[in-house]
Amino acid sequence: MKLKDKVSVITGGAAGIGEAGSRRFADEGAKVIILDVNEAAGKALEAQYENVWFIKTDISNENSVKCAFDKVAEKYGRVDVLYNNASVFLGGRDGILGDVEESIWKKVLSINLDGIYHCTKFALPLMKENGGSIINTASSAGVVGVPGCAAYTATKGATVTLTRSLAVDYGKYNIRTNCIAPAAIETEMVKESNLNDPSFDNDFFLRQITPLKRWGKPEDVAALAAFLASDDASYLNGVIIPCDGGITINGTVNKM
Ligand SMILES: NC(=O)c1ccc[n+]([C@@H]2O[C@H](COP(=O)([O-])OP(=O)(O)OC[C@H]3O[C@@H](n4cnc5c(N)ncnc54)[C@H](O)[C@@H]3O)[C@@H](O)[C@H]2O)c1
Repeated sequence: MKLKDKVSVITGGAAGIGEAGSRRFADEGAKVIILDVNEAAGKALEAQYENVWFIKTDISNENSVKCAFDKVAEKYGRVDVLYNNASVFLGGRDGILGDVEESIWKKVLSINLDGIYHCTKFALPLMKENGGSIINTASSAGVVGVPGCAAYTATKGATVTLTRSLAVDYGKYNIRTNCIAPAAIETEMVKESNLNDPSFDNDFFLRQITPLKRWGKPEDVAALAAFLASDDASYLNGVIIPCDGGITINGTVNKM
C-alpha cells in the first residue's frame, strides 16, 4: 500500500505498460485516473477496481486534456502523481527521416510530445501545493541511436531533456520529475516495432542483444513506476532510468 490515497493520473493506462501500471498503482492503494483513447479497455479496467476511474482522453488534444483535469480537480482537488506513459510508434509509417511524411511526423510529435506538455501543464497547478511525482516515459530510442523511427526517437530524446528541465524548474515545489526508458517490453507496441517484422531475428535478439535473455514484462516497468511515484523515491529528481534488461548498456540495440 505504498501509494495509499495518492491521486495518480496515468496516460495510456488502459493497455500495455500503462495497464500494468494502473493495476499496480490500484493494488498499492492509489486513486487511479486513466486517461486513454481506448474506451473499451479503459472501461473494462474501471469495472474491475473500486479505485480506478477512466476518463476518455486524447492527450494530443489540449481541450480533451483540460476537460479531464477539470474533472480530476472537481473530484479530488489535487494530483499527487502524473505518469506520462502514452505514446504511439506508428511502425511502417515512421522511418528514416527522409521517408517520413509530414503528417506522420506531426502525428507522432502531437501524441508523444505535445501529450506530455498538455498533461503536465494541467497537472502542475494541482500538484504545486502538496508536491508530487511526475514520471515521464522515454525509450532506449531516447538514449542511444535506434534506426528507422526518426519521429519517435525525436520525441523520446525530447522527453529525456524535458524531464531534466521540469526537474530543475519545479523541484522547489517538491515536485520530482523522473523518466523511465524502457526497451523490449512485450506489448502491442513491440509487436509493431519488432515482432511483426518478418526480418526480425528473435533468437539473435535474446542471445546477443539482451543481457537478461528474456523479453521484459509490462509489470517490470510498473514496479519501477510505483517506486518512482512513492515516497521511497523522495530524493530522486531528474533521473533517467533504463528498464530494459541491460539492452541499452550492452550497446547493441541498433545492431540488428
Ligand atoms: N513496449 C516497449 O518495449 C517500449 C519500449 C520503449 C518505450 N516504450 C514506451 O512505453 C510507453 C508505453 O508503451 P506500450 O508498449 O505499453 O504501448 P501500447 O501501444 O501497448 O499502449 C499505449 C497506450 O497508449 C494509448 N494511447 C495512444 N495514443 C493515445 C492518445 N492520443 N491519448 C491517450 N492515450 C493514447 C493507447 O490506447 C494504449 O492504451 C510508451 O511511451 C512507449 O513509447 C515502450
